[in-house]
Amino acid sequence: MPLTHTRDLFAKALKGKYAIGAFNVNNMELVQAIVEACEEEKAPLILQISRGARQYAKPIFLKKLIEAAVSVSNIPIAVHLDHGDSFELCKECIDEGFTSVMIDASFEPFEKNVEITRKVVEYAHKHNCAVEAELGHLVGAQFDEGEAGGGYSKSGHYTDPEEAVRFVKETGCDSLAVAIGNSHGAYKFKGDQRLDMDRLRAIKKALVEAGLGDYPLVLHGASSVPQELVDEINKFGGKLGDARGVPETDIEEARRNGVAKVNIDTDLRLAMTAGIRRVFAENPKEFDPRKYLGPARAKVKELVKHKVRNVLGCAGHAFD
Ligand code: G3H
Ligand code: 13P
Ligand code: ZN
Repeated sequence: MPLTHTRDLFAKALKGKYAIGAFNVNNMELVQAIVEACEEEKAPLILQISRGARQYAKPIFLKKLIEAAVSVSNIPIAVHLDHGDSFELCKECIDEGFTSVMIDASFEPFEKNVEITRKVVEYAHKHNCAVEAELGHLVGAQFDEGEAGGGYSKSGHYTDPEEAVRFVKETGCDSLAVAIGNSHGAYKFKGDQRLDMDRLRAIKKALVEAGLGDYPLVLHGASSVPQELVDEINKFGGKLGDARGVPETDIEEARRNGVAKVNIDTDLRLAMTAGIRRVFAENPKEFDPRKYLGPARAKVKELVKHKVRNVLGCAGHAFD
């Protein structure tokens, strides 16, 4: 089956009020776990690759892994560049056949963000590739605690509904990542902070009223940081402090309110780490990578099945 365009996936997701999981991949075990999980659950899928993932694995290895996964599965799969930071990187991925790219110029002033995004859109659309852009700054912990520069930013810059309308109209981007209290990593909130659902609804409403229809919104930083994974990691020698993610109920509410794509990376990392740590702790003599990567892969698969079935609601929708 060839790669799928996100335009088709989003249109069906918005209609059905479910979200497509966009899972980050860096290696073979992640690709296999995610694709097998979605295949078994009959869930449409977006595999996403960051700049860091391309540097780590080398683009050709990820491309071939995904080709292999696509050739042995029947579900629709789109391949997306996560957080592209330049026109050049987006162009490279479009030329390689990605069906979707993200240009993240959200840290530029509004007009500059528009200019860079529009340039990517013009090139991408000529090559049948969709473009996700971002408006607003994600709030919260942008780095793991203890990392240089780590800390909680309370200020951030939430997406403004009217600016969102202007941005989409001026750039022609196909989907928009919004900042509504979400953030990357395992330390998202201190206390009981949640997503700003009223703002999400206001953004959606403004887009509809501006004639942009049921426009697809994207939620980055959507890992839930399951406590049982954090506990398992800590039980087997890890040291994750007060890790906290977006409650699953918030993700459900978000997809019922127009979020068509939900980005998940941290939870995959946690599942993988928990699997590996358990093997090392229970069998310190083990040194065959298959013996610890295998269980880690199984844990990622279990997590993805849970996400698509119980949180994103996209299980069973592969052939809508
Ligand atoms: O939003 C960032 C994703 O989790 C990718 O992370 O840049 O470390 O690959 P990365
Ligand atoms: P998490 O760190 O919450 O998994 O977010 C991933 C993400 O937004 C990738 O772009
Ligand atoms: Zn992100």
